[in-house]
Amino acid sequence: MLQTHLETERLMLRLFQSTDAKSVQKLAGHEEIARTTLGIPHPYPDGVAEAWIEHVRRAAERGEMFSFALIRKEDHQLIGCVSLRVKSANDGELAYWVGRPYWGQGFATEASKKVVNFGFEVLGLNRVYAKAMTKNPASYKVMSKIGMKYKETLSRHLLKSGVYEDLVLYEMTRPKSMI
Ligand SMILES: CC(C)(COP(=O)(O)OP(=O)(O)OC[C@H]1O[C@@H](n2cnc3c(N)ncnc32)[C@H](O)[C@@H]1OP(=O)(O)O)[C@@H](O)C(=O)NCCC(=O)NCCS
Repeated sequence: MLQTHLETERLMLRLFQSTDAKSVQKLAGHEEIARTTLGIPHPYPDGVAEAWIEHVRRAAERGEMFSFALIRKEDHQLIGCVSLRVKSANDGELAYWVGRPYWGQGFATEASKKVVNFGFEVLGLNRVYAKAMTKNPASYKVMSKIGMKYKETLSRHLLKSGVYEDLVLYEMTRPKSMI
């Protein structure tokens, strides 16, 4: 059984549960979250959060993806999500969103660092990468702050709302101290 309860200075990280659906709909349903992510709809219809939580619960059971709810310790509020998708025995892809009211306080950085370590130490991954739209500097700033390095820009890589978006790819390999 994997240890999927993680902790940072200000956050508890745990897998999503059905009772999180209302918070997910409210936070992920903000227009500014949909604008720079691929799979999050706006407006965010009723029932989507419940279905997504069930989907990620099963994916975690199969060891394919671990989506962590970010719970602020001081008030037990759910404030965001950091996911690690296992792409192969060696590789994982990191993705995240933080609710609009909680931006700019270092939460994505704090949680992502912990989840990447989970990928290396618990899942035994060798490499973790992440992609962001070039119009989303906050996201690739997080990547760089957790120690990922810029790898390349993927031109017109993704079709979003009828527009081809350029993406940047960042990555890091397991630190030697963990080998
Ligand atoms: C990207 C996101 C998760 C960042 O969350 P966050 O908790 O605010 O991130 P952090 O506070 O840990 O770090 C953000 C950094 O980006 C910086 N930043 C924010 N807006 C920026 C901008 N327009 N240009 C450059 N840097 C910017 C912040 O100053 C901060 O850096 P600092 O700590 O050196 O000051 C959040 O903005 C979000 O949920 N966006 C919508 C969903 C999304 O785009 N997810 C990523 C998909 S790849």
